Amino acid sequence: MKAVALKKDVYWVGALDWAIRDFHGYETPRGTSYNNYLVVDDEITLIDTVKYDFADITLQNISGVVDPARIRNVIVNHIENDHVTSLDRIMALAPDATIYITEKGKRGLERFFDLDKWKMKVVKSGDTLTTGRKTFRFLETPMLHWPDSMVTYLEEDKILFTQDAFGQHIASSGRFDDEFVAEYSDAELDDAVTDYYANILMPFGTMIKAKIAEIEKLGLDIEIVAPDHGIIWRKDPGKVFRMYLDMANGKANLSVAIIYDTMWQSTEKMIVPITEGIRDAGVRVKVIKLRATPTSVAIKEFWKARGALIGSPTLNNITYPSVAEYLTHLRGLRPKNRLVGAFGSYGWGGGAVKEIYDDFKRMGLDAVEPGLQILYRPSLQDEEVCFQFGKEFAQKVIEYHQKF
Ligand code: FEO
Repeated sequence: MKAVALKKDVYWVGALDWAIRDFHGYETPRGTSYNNYLVVDDEITLIDTVKYDFADITLQNISGVVDPARIRNVIVNHIENDHVTSLDRIMALAPDATIYITEKGKRGLERFFDLDKWKMKVVKSGDTLTTGRKTFRFLETPMLHWPDSMVTYLEEDKILFTQDAFGQHIASSGRFDDEFVAEYSDAELDDAVTDYYANILMPFGTMIKAKIAEIEKLGLDIEIVAPDHGIIWRKDPGKVFRMYLDMANGKANLSVAIIYDTMWQSTEKMIVPITEGIRDAGVRVKVIKLRATPTSVAIKEFWKARGALIGSPTLNNITYPSVAEYLTHLRGLRPKNRLVGAFGSYGWGGGAVKEIYDDFKRMGLDAVEPGLQILYRPSLQDEEVCFQFGKEFAQKVIEYHQKF
């Protein structure tokens, strides 16, 4: 691994994590990267650090460009563990460096390190740092995606360093969008952006729109968007802004995701006629079986579709545990602009479908009630009911989709 130039005197010095498959519960089949950046000027500046386990790699990469002891400024755009836990390794080599961070970032960083031994400079939106010929401009982005977050614009090189925003969980041979697309495809890159947005940024759509508007108002000329994960946007940096705005504005496919689990294959037996009904209404459908699918993939599929049907058997009068777990995960992401419904098989008293609708209410989702419950195993007549249920739900999804 070695440093990669974004522009003259501006380098990626991060680390590729090819092996990670579980990023705090988020399935990462493509691995990820921890991106940080070195800017060489009269004063040397490092933007972000990497996860602790990769400290030696970033130090090696920095050393390929300059002696790390020469670092004078460390900009900390975000304090989550994967971006600050090697900060002490950097500061041990460059103890005179000044750390530039937001007020909330400083308060959070105190929970990681003893800050008394380091020079700290708290910055706000509009503050700048000049290092010789280059100027860094800070813009706070609280809750995008943590309270401490900010982005940094390097004026002369027209690079926006965006911490987690606009990233993707990708480890790949190339560091840039054009290189990734040449090796894989546009579709795979789009999928990685959607996956990341759905699982990390879904709750922050309003903030995303406001911050993109603020960046546009500032009139920043952006040639490169350099996030802290995945590929760097240089071929078409506007593309990821457009994708984010579309998603923040509620864009989804005119399709239905059926996300379910099953106990004795009775709920599963409802799936085929429901999908037939949806297709009969002219709407695409995708089926995701929980326990056989990583949660983050099921979240992404929910997010891509305008409508979702959640299927669960009733176990001990409540929702099946894997479905309940999924709904808890989904609730934390505060989904909006999706039409939902529920179905499932039950014995005795039932209960799962009602609980799922209670969860929909807690999430504030638009729901088609009352859902569909089938006693024990679906009969042939029940399958006709399932078909109609799917068809009517899809017709409502078509109407709902017109609003966006
Ligand atoms: Fe990549 Fe919010 O950490």
